[in-house]
Amino acid sequence: MASLPRVAESAGARAGRKVATLTSDSAEHIPAPADHFLPGPVLLLGAPGVGKGTQAQSLMAGYKIPQISTGDILRDNIARGTDLGRAAKGLMDQGQLVPDGIVNDMVGARLTQPDVDDGYILDGYPRTLGQAEWLDAHLSSTAVKRSGGTVVPLVAVNIRVDENELLRRITGRRICSACKHIYNIYSKPPKHEGICDLDGSPLLHRSDDTEAAFTERMKAYNTLTAPVIEHYSKQGRFREVDGAQAVEQVTAAIESALKQLRQAGA
Ligand code: AP5
Repeated sequence: MASLPRVAESAGARAGRKVATLTSDSAEHIPAPADHFLPGPVLLLGAPGVGKGTQAQSLMAGYKIPQISTGDILRDNIARGTDLGRAAKGLMDQGQLVPDGIVNDMVGARLTQPDVDDGYILDGYPRTLGQAEWLDAHLSSTAVKRSGGTVVPLVAVNIRVDENELLRRITGRRICSACKHIYNIYSKPPKHEGICDLDGSPLLHRSDDTEAAFTERMKAYNTLTAPVIEHYSKQGRFREVDGAQAVEQVTAAIESALKQLRQAGA
């Protein structure tokens, strides 16, 4: 993602387990409670605009584990004018997926950073069967482990929303150019038009948030990403939540699904 929060280890972690605490440069380090539920690695799946990024931001704040958004990493590369960004921009603007090899390498590199030790939220990845198989193989050697060495497998949560509502969400979305906070001119407008409530930076409209690009993104989702849902569902590591509810209710449904999955041994 474009601006990952810095992560420090909590001094209060008990039971032989590290607890990651998200910090900002000015914020005090607040240890997570010892009984704080850590969901391990989580995949958020769902069509464009279902609320993956919004929910990842809430879960990241609640669980103190990082969000890894392949869309944000790609947009950051475009903004910095890297070779990767130049290769991705045309495809993204047309609503097509970036080739698996590029995104797998990006995710592989991100997962070497120490802040993922206690888990992370993957937002928008994997979105092809090839990416899911690559990730499974990658994680079998570099997995998040519970104290005692037990591997914590990935669990996947799919957010579901009706397609007509998705188009409204996509065209109404605005994103802070600095802190990446997500707004919507219909359902969550900023206090002052075009300005972020949190840091006063200008809000941006994504270049792929057009009706034409949305149609292509939905096609890619239905043909290439639907098999990923099947992949995790078959392995019993999958739940689905209704994303048409208020943001806070969707967050609660995801948290409940994660607890159920972990209690069931996933
Ligand atoms: P990416 O950035 O991942 O886009 P996406 O998957 O299309 O999802 P979005 O970011 O559009 O939506 P979201 O579900 O995060 O919704 P949000 O929370 O913002 O990918 C972009 C492109 O990059 C792809 O098309 C592809 O080209 C490339 N790419 C990325 N990953 C790739 C990969 N793995 N492989 C290949 N290519 C890849 O919410 C949307 C709006 O709805 C917001 O305005 C929000 O405020 C509002 N909202 C959210 N929740 C609610 C709610 N409950 N009620 C009302 N409004 C809500």
